[in-house]
Amino acid sequence: MRRYGIPTPAEGLATSQDEVVSLVKKIGTPVAMKIVSPDILHKTDAGGVVVGVDSEADAKDAYEKIIANAKKYDASATITGVQVQQMVGGGQEVIIGSVTDPTFGKVVAFGLGGVLVEVLKDITFRLAPLDRNEARSMVDGIKAAEVLQGARGAEPVDREALADVIQQVAALVTDFPEISEFDLNPVFATAEGACAADIRILLDDGEVTEPDRYSQQDILQVMNRMMNPRSVAVVGASAEDGKIGNSVMKNLQNGGFAGGIYPINPKATEILGYKAYPSITDVPGEIDVAIFTVPAKFVLAAIAECGAKGVSTAVLIPSGFAETGNVELQEEVVAAAKQHGVRLLGPNIYGYYYTPQNLCATFCTPYDVRGGVALTSQSGGIGMAILGYSRTTKMGVSAIVGLGNKSDIDEDDLLTYFEQDENTQCVAMHLEDLKDGKAFVETAKRMTKKKPVVVLKAGRTALGARAASSHTGALAGDDKVYDDVLRQAGVIRAPGLNDMLDYARGLPLMPTPKGENVVIITGAGGSGVLLSDACVEAGLSLMDIPPDLDEEFRRYIPPFGASGNPIDITGGEPPSTYEATIRLGLEDPRIHALILGYWHTIVTPPMVFAELTARVVNEARAKGIDKPVVASLAGDTEVEKASDYLFEHRIIAHPYTTERPVAVLGAKYRWARAAGLL
Ligand code: COA
Repeated sequence: MRRYGIPTPAEGLATSQDEVVSLVKKIGTPVAMKIVSPDILHKTDAGGVVVGVDSEADAKDAYEKIIANAKKYDASATITGVQVQQMVGGGQEVIIGSVTDPTFGKVVAFGLGGVLVEVLKDITFRLAPLDRNEARSMVDGIKAAEVLQGARGAEPVDREALADVIQQVAALVTDFPEISEFDLNPVFATAEGACAADIRILLDDGEVTEPDRYSQQDILQVMNRMMNPRSVAVVGASAEDGKIGNSVMKNLQNGGFAGGIYPINPKATEILGYKAYPSITDVPGEIDVAIFTVPAKFVLAAIAECGAKGVSTAVLIPSGFAETGNVELQEEVVAAAKQHGVRLLGPNIYGYYYTPQNLCATFCTPYDVRGGVALTSQSGGIGMAILGYSRTTKMGVSAIVGLGNKSDIDEDDLLTYFEQDENTQCVAMHLEDLKDGKAFVETAKRMTKKKPVVVLKAGRTALGARAASSHTGALAGDDKVYDDVLRQAGVIRAPGLNDMLDYARGLPLMPTPKGENVVIITGAGGSGVLLSDACVEAGLSLMDIPPDLDEEFRRYIPPFGASGNPIDITGGEPPSTYEATIRLGLEDPRIHALILGYWHTIVTPPMVFAELTARVVNEARAKGIDKPVVASLAGDTEVEKASDYLFEHRIIAHPYTTERPVAVLGAKYRWARAAGLL
């Protein structure tokens, strides 16, 4: 502790009454005295602890008493002596520690000490090591942060001292990987500093196996060939309608992939008009990607052939590996692939799409609406939900990638590609686990500075986590650790599938806000209240409207309307009122984002509202004013068409909900804050 500058109480070891006296003189009263014996673990049970010793005479008595009690407790115990320790106390008790997480490795923890940490689970985690700001964000990140800041007139504790200890603990466990668990509990936090009164360290055997990692350059080389292949082979291509090997062939052909397509089938000479080859090694010319549609048991042999052919990625659609308990076969395939220099996508996947190359390497429905969103999923069902949502909402997509068992290629490889991919502006990932949490965080931290990354982490509940482990053959990590570490990486976590898709669809369309002032303009008071609630949920701050601006808004709204924020223009208003107030909201530089609450009347029908809003927003954009604008549309079914129209004009609009558009705006703010843009 001393070496890492972690303050602990003054203390010393006494083996006689005289030594007790000199230690008390040095430390000052009161002191705590504790038996020191390798044979006595539970000191209190042995009568080996006396606290609050106030004088030299009492300390001498306590010494005799402790030694006598210890001998009575265990006559054969070796007694090293009695520790005399400065009594610390007062202030707030906190806990600072570290555990070795199966996914992320060393993580540090901070929370209030005592019963609270257990009952309220008010604890926060970060990946170690960490910088000063991250350490500070832990002190300020627990629910009870206000207690430390001096709630209700109490004296605030020295939060910098706490951040210091957190940072030092993170450094210490990083330097000593053999420390599996580490607890400073309690740490007394006062206005003057922090002092760790008790320390517990658990060691393991010290063997730390780091997962295989590739350099960024190697990853990019493979990913580039996977996403932009010059030619692909289908191992197990079939002429028989309805077979997976036939569907993949059709998708490649009908999707319009312009590169070479080579069916591999030992029995066929031609499939769907393409010359077939008995083995991939028989194909003339280079092949970048091999898509496997043969049963699991044939994969191993064909991987060796892929290696011989110089294929860089094998896309393994077949099931029947770790997810069904056949871990051994998967490990054999992974080992063979490694030996032959082939990287693996899957197994147990639907394949992947990359629209800039018209590449539909999958047996599901083809997709061709190009755009800036790249999506990945660990399961086929989620993959197809992504597809259906994308199609109905006309969401432009750059890639959809199945990851399945993630025996090799995982989110971190894909992020590395999408980070530099000009066709991708935003990434959304459904995941059940992370194979290499550290590598993911490292890549995500870099990536989220440039483009938003949305993650839907399945297994949020204990029951969900159990289902996840049977699904992928991997253990899902503790959710609180995931939650905190993903935030540390700047990732936006989506609570559900629809939220992930809403964020993915909306984020690339929305400009980055320039400040925190959000204003609600609504035609319906009820929507205004719900929109305000949604703002709080989404971590948005409603602007305190200054009197001059309030007056300006008042000029447009009827006397029975309400200014302030939300600005309630009231229900019966004509298009001109919507137009004037939205224009004012856009043009006043103190306002940074607008939330519109429209409701359907004959006076201002949905399409009239949509058209005027798009026009006013476009006029502002032409003047260089581009603010995030989201809209909630309440009304008859025409509001659906109006919402679509608004989306086409880069205004995030959702019918029949106050929560969804605000949540998307909240996601944009979370990203902008994490990326340091606000
Ligand atoms: N190289 C090339 N082709 C081979 C081969 C080899 N070594 N061995 C067999 N083939 C051919 C077969 O002859 C067959 O062609 P044919 O139709 O001309 O006879 C073709 O490859 C496919 O083999 P087949 O035995 O017919 O398999 P299948 O089509 O019934 O099933 C899978 C193969 C991969 C679809 C199946 O095993 C599977 O895993 N299905 C589940 C897929 C899934 O759900 N994935 C997850 C989605 S999220």
